Amino acid sequence: MTPKLHYTVPGLSDADAQRIVELLQDRLHATNDLHLTLKHVHWNVVGPHFISVHEMIDPQVDAVRGFADDLAERIATFGGSPQGTPGSIVSARTWDEYSIGRGTTQEHLGALDLVYQGVITSYRDGIKELGELDPITEDMFIGQTEQLELFHWFIRAHLEDKGGHLSTEGAGSEKAAAAAAEQG
Ligand SMILES: [Fe+2]
Repeated sequence: MTPKLHYTVPGLSDADAQRIVELLQDRLHATNDLHLTLKHVHWNVVGPHFISVHEMIDPQVDAVRGFADDLAERIATFGGSPQGTPGSIVSARTWDEYSIGRGTTQEHLGALDLVYQGVITSYRDGIKELGELDPITEDMFIGQTEQLELFHWFIRAHLEDKGGHLSTEGAGSEKAAAAAAEQG
């Protein structure tokens, strides 16, 4: 639940501002969850391709952490109070905790394919709604989505064969995607 706004940016109705803050807060939870999850992967990957995946992840962590900061500061700009504590993420999120512990690079990359699918789909839903509400926040979502889609491709390039088929195609869970990626 997003706290009531006592002021907001000029030219917006209170109801629209409230909804925009809710959309920003949902992405703030998603990006806070994602940069922590990416660090968890950075620490837990094993196998012969360890160093390339370990090192590929850190720039993604830094970028996603920057997205969270921009989203939080836009909530404050709207007169809202960004919720950034671990408990607030866990109680508000609509997705499950990342489900892979120590695992091979392919297992984690397979699971991350599913993670990025979920995050990017939600960003695109937000973009659709913001097209009517606020093109400035929409622009922020679009810029972040472009970067997330690029990172998703970096993950998928490890899961793709020469014919362009993804090993994770059709996987409905992180565990199923991890198993499919491990098999190749
Ligand atoms: Fe590190």
